[in-house]
Amino acid sequence: MRILSGIQPSGELHIGNYFGAMRQHVELQQRGQGIYFLADYHSMTSLRDAEGRRAAVVELALDYLACGLDPATSILYRQSDLPETCELAWILTTVTPMGLLLRAHSYKDKVDQGVQPDHGLFAYPVLMAADILQYNPELVPVGQDQKQHLEMTRDIAVKFNQAYDAEVFTQPEPHILESVAVVPGTDGRKMSKSYGNVIRMFWSEKKLKKTIMSVVTDSTPVEDPKDIDQSVFQLWSLFADEGEREEMFARAEAGGMGYGDVKKALFEKVLAHFAPMRERREELAKRPDDIEDILRAGAGRARELAAPVLEAARQAAGLGSPR
Ligand code: ADP
Ligand code: TRP
Repeated sequence: MRILSGIQPSGELHIGNYFGAMRQHVELQQRGQGIYFLADYHSMTSLRDAEGRRAAVVELALDYLACGLDPATSILYRQSDLPETCELAWILTTVTPMGLLLRAHSYKDKVDQGVQPDHGLFAYPVLMAADILQYNPELVPVGQDQKQHLEMTRDIAVKFNQAYDAEVFTQPEPHILESVAVVPGTDGRKMSKSYGNVIRMFWSEKKLKKTIMSVVTDSTPVEDPKDIDQSVFQLWSLFADEGEREEMFARAEAGGMGYGDVKKALFEKVLAHFAPMRERREELAKRPDDIEDILRAGAGRARELAAPVLEAARQAAGLGSPR
């Protein structure tokens, strides 16, 4: 089974991304041929800083590798190392109805937020369809927010097959990552880089501690019972087992526990959970050439998988020299 997913190198990964996406990507590699790419073409729709983009790709590769993505079995590559994807995006663009793209929530949301749309932002779902369809993967793990893009991919696959009366693309199944509900940020809202409320697992101990100690809590006095729906408890719970949770929640209900203690417990959990990954990341970061080698080799393997599908699409559409 081929399992494909992409993630945009557009900011620092945080523990929301880890529990919501990356951890599942790493777990899924046991179930088939994992193909994971760092979506730098996609990041062009929001980021116009060339050096920043290059650096973000490397940081994201380090995060993935540190968190357990195994380059010996799974494929990890930089999207732009496979420019053929853009050719397929063009081929697919010509069979994509305007109406389909006009209904895209993510496009409409961006425009509502005041983003000046360009054609790249509008055509984003077609590039995503090309990312996916070039491998005819069986499973595409994505967050809930990407569900509509997956449905568009399925529609675009059918449109191409119908237009050229060929069976080139299969309809991929979305595998919606339910995640651990939504990971809250330091201010109680969803943890998101756009809210500036993130906790990044690979920050220095000092910064991590400072950020965790600043998690917003209510003003219940120490002796009173505490509301366990608050971020600090929810975050801590992500790292705790059933028994620990029961004990902590009983203490919270009984009163007499200060938030400082919960924050310290959270800090220790985060440090301990990510310690082996942090160590691996620091080791890997010392060898930038190895990271490049991994990405280049990944692109080579990805190209081999994509080539027959791309050629079938070209032939079906009457492109290039005939076979
Ligand atoms: P951000 O909201 O920080 O911009 P992205 O939209 O780039 O994050 O998300 C990348 C992946 O991480 C997506 O699959 C998304 O579903 C997941 N994700 C992001 N934030 C959270 C969160 N707070 N809780 C759970 N999953 C999240
Ligand atoms: N749009 C996805 C996101 O922002 C990233 C992405 C690009 C992707 N191409 C993909 C995910 C193909 C899955 C499959 O999260």
